[in-house]
Amino acid sequence: MSNKYTSNLHIEKAKTSKIKDVDFDNLNFGRTFTDHMFICDYVNGEWQQPKIIPYQAMSMDPSARVFHYGQAVFEGMKAYKDYDGGVFLFRPKENFNRINKSCARLAMPEFPENYFFEGLTTLLNLDKEWIQPGVGNSLYIRPFAIAIDSAIAAAPSDSYRFMIICSPAKAYYKGTVKVLIAEEFSRSANGGVGFAKAAGNYAAQFYPTSLAQKKGYQQVIWTDADTHTFLEEAGTMNVFFRINDTLITAPISDRILDGVTRKSLIQLAKDNNINCEVRPIKVTEIVEASKNGTLKEIFGAGTAAVISPIEGFEYKDTYYELPEIGDHSYSSILKNKMLSIQHNLADDKNGWRYEIK
Ligand SMILES: Cc1ncc(COP(=O)(O)O)c(C=O)c1O
Repeated sequence: MSNKYTSNLHIEKAKTSKIKDVDFDNLNFGRTFTDHMFICDYVNGEWQQPKIIPYQAMSMDPSARVFHYGQAVFEGMKAYKDYDGGVFLFRPKENFNRINKSCARLAMPEFPENYFFEGLTTLLNLDKEWIQPGVGNSLYIRPFAIAIDSAIAAAPSDSYRFMIICSPAKAYYKGTVKVLIAEEFSRSANGGVGFAKAAGNYAAQFYPTSLAQKKGYQQVIWTDADTHTFLEEAGTMNVFFRINDTLITAPISDRILDGVTRKSLIQLAKDNNINCEVRPIKVTEIVEASKNGTLKEIFGAGTAAVISPIEGFEYKDTYYELPEIGDHSYSSILKNKMLSIQHNLADDKNGWRYEIK
């Protein structure tokens, strides 16, 4: 992208802060938002002046294309604070690159890098009181882009809006998770948009996930759409399996999101001499390993929960329980390592932390 997008961020500060009304010990994920938001429109083939304004509702024409054709993409990232007041992001360039990959797949214009980083840095500096220090606390950051043309015609929009909103967060999942392995429904298909963080990918999961929830499972592990025999990923997490002392995770494809947590865990496993294989995994391999006692762990990996240990899974009407291995589990070792890096409590030899100055 050319560098015609030079800095001209406009800032309108909120007159009062809502922070005093927030109970940080009882946060409901994604329901409380900070005082400011970032907004930038794309009109006539150009990104317009980026702005930070007080967090507020916005009005849009009912014919806005996002409502009809789902031209919408998003990201999920987090800011962390250490006890000295330092604020850090984790590999934010990965999220920036990924939202532009998602934009390209949805026929949306890519967003300029300096607008993104200047906007995000300024927003975090304005709202840094909202980030509670220490492990378990974070500020969830939601960049997103939508088609805003007022026209119900099934074609890409001419105008778009890129925004960033922020929500203080505690750990996302409480406790362990039981999952259902998909045998009928699919999340994504070859040549589709599974690798993108397209809003519609998530809408499409809600119904099958609600059926799984009625059966007592919090999440679905999706399998390949063709044969339903290969394990892919969960709702908002990539998935790792531990057989004996080897971790296994599915390779990235056009059906699977290239998770930042996943790729960081693969590296951390390597850094800590844990064998990690990236290869296709058959459901039958996991079932067999569970039956013969070699399946030690399954866990989800994603920004929201970092690592979410899985207690057991259902496949073809049979429930398979994972053994309890506590503090020695790879999930807890790797989670602690990740959190320590994210919260500036450990060396960051891979250069993943990004300090907000
Ligand atoms: C479908 C899907 N898979 C995996 C992930 C994990 O990705 P990350 O680690 O970048 O949060 C997410 C969350 O963004 C997701 O939505």
